[in-house]
Amino acid sequence: MRVGVLTGGGDAAGLNAAIRAVGRTTLRSGSEFVGVVNGWAGLLDGGETIALDDRSLIGALREGGTMLGSSRTNPLAIDRGLENVEASLAAQGIDALVAIGGDDTLSVAARLAERGVPVVGLPKTVDFDLAVTEYCIGFDSAVAIVVEALDRLHTTAASHHRVMVCEVMGRASGWLAVMGGIAGGADLVVIPEFPISLDQVVEVLNERKSRGRMYSIVVVAEGAEIEGLHVPDDPAAPKDAFGHVSLSQRAVGERLGGAILHATGHETRATVLGHVQRGGSPVVSDRIWPTRLGLAVTDALFEGTFGICAIVQDGGVAFVPLSDVVASQKRVPRSLYDVVARVN
Ligand code: F6P
Repeated sequence: MRVGVLTGGGDAAGLNAAIRAVGRTTLRSGSEFVGVVNGWAGLLDGGETIALDDRSLIGALREGGTMLGSSRTNPLAIDRGLENVEASLAAQGIDALVAIGGDDTLSVAARLAERGVPVVGLPKTVDFDLAVTEYCIGFDSAVAIVVEALDRLHTTAASHHRVMVCEVMGRASGWLAVMGGIAGGADLVVIPEFPISLDQVVEVLNERKSRGRMYSIVVVAEGAEIEGLHVPDDPAAPKDAFGHVSLSQRAVGERLGGAILHATGHETRATVLGHVQRGGSPVVSDRIWPTRLGLAVTDALFEGTFGICAIVQDGGVAFVPLSDVVASQKRVPRSLYDVVARVN
């Protein structure tokens, strides 16, 4: 048996821990283990893989990023892309594939599974918007970065009596903003799920000032819409193969900071955390869960179970069909969003 593993989409801390767990289980069963290079790009046109042995996995547990490389290549957007992947799997001699990724990567895996390809999945996304699972590789590490940044912004905001706007990742969901905001003591979070107006932002900040709070911390998700804040659509903004427009030029944090200064006269600074949230070593949970999920999904694969994703449910490891994981996206519930406003 030859088992392949790939990582697709944005990188995240904890991917290497998952690769290590899949690899160690595979190699100890006497099977071969290969890494697919650069996500689905490495399974097109014959494919590109690297053989991984036990030594190549040493140290992987604590390394950030992905040792295999990643891409946003989408076989579903390529003519006969799924057939191309199947032919590449055959050319590389891969008998079973572990795909690690978010809804884009796993939607390709789900389609391959429908066609009878022996594939299983592991959930990864710093956006935390995958349905069903209580845990996604990389989210906890990214939240830890947000919290550290907010702690640091607090001390400088307090010293200079400023408003600090912190822009975090989150295209369509505000999990990083809300969870980071709760743990980091944000005074206001602005997220895609619950759009608010610039007037409401100003009202919150003025109300805080009237209570004698001389500084405020605002966390805004990069994809948030704010009524009254002009964020022009950039027709030239690049789109990835899954149709997502790059949000890097949107600059919602900078624009919000400028608008707050204009509307309140309160000195304001903006910080964009960007890819700092995805880089660096995994926190404890992003070592333990990728290891547990990686072991579980590899055991399932050796038992001949395919088309499933290992997830966390009710605090333990569970399996669901790949199609369930990509059927919908998980959004921040109102009750969680409201926490920040109740303690600011
Ligand atoms: O993978 C999800 C994500 O981290 C989003 O939160 C963010 O908008 C996007 O990736 C950034 O993508 P890239 O690394 O391609 O700029």
